[in-house]
Amino acid sequence: MNQKIYAANWKLHKSPRETRAFFEQWRDKVSGLKGQVVFFPTALCMEATWQALSGSGIQFGAQNVYFEDQGAFTGENSPMVLKEMGARWALVGHSERRAIFAESDALLAKKVRKLQDLGLTPMLCIGELLKEREANQTNEVLRKQLAEDLSLADKTKPLAIAYEPVWAIGTGKVAGPQQVQEAHAFIYQELQKLGFAATTPILYGGSVKADNAGTLIAIPHVDGFLVGGASLDVDRFLAIARA
Ligand code: PGA
Repeated sequence: MNQKIYAANWKLHKSPRETRAFFEQWRDKVSGLKGQVVFFPTALCMEATWQALSGSGIQFGAQNVYFEDQGAFTGENSPMVLKEMGARWALVGHSERRAIFAESDALLAKKVRKLQDLGLTPMLCIGELLKEREANQTNEVLRKQLAEDLSLADKTKPLAIAYEPVWAIGTGKVAGPQQVQEAHAFIYQELQKLGFAATTPILYGGSVKADNAGTLIAIPHVDGFLVGGASLDVDRFLAIARA
């Protein structure tokens, strides 16, 4: 079995100074941790992250990149530069990118492919809105997001999925174990149907905390967590990764 993955999505939090302080504390406390940890700092803290983690074996990535390496794309982040900075991952299609920045499935598909072509691993975030769950459309939404966002993906290259029910993100409302189990089993099956490797990790995200992490990580096809709020603090994030 693959190692569990504990991913920290810092969103728009932390300065370079705070980033360095976090990793100093992290280094002091992390020993004996099992599993793979991945940090997603802001783009402006990537340099501080790169320096702090250099030689440590701890992986990191971007919360968002464009699908072109360079050109007239004011304000975007280059995946090629991300790679040069030692990053191994990027989030694609977080619900905040979809909702606030109007990222379309067609755009996300290009980002997934670009990252794979560069040898970076995309962590594609998918998940239903509350109104979609209430209308029994969860599976339909997940199926559509997977089919469209992975339509250009290379099935031979690394990929990870993060299932994040939008209503559970930052709300304190974690999905129940049965909801998580059903969604992860469904995503696993859909990935098989689309021809992706059975080992493609499927992470859960949405109000993960130390007190629900133990239950959730034991669910079949839960291969790790994508953690927002609780990843900003060394002790809280470590408690999740150790749960
Ligand atoms: P949360 O965020 O853990 O604060 O709910 C998760 C995410 O948005 O990735």
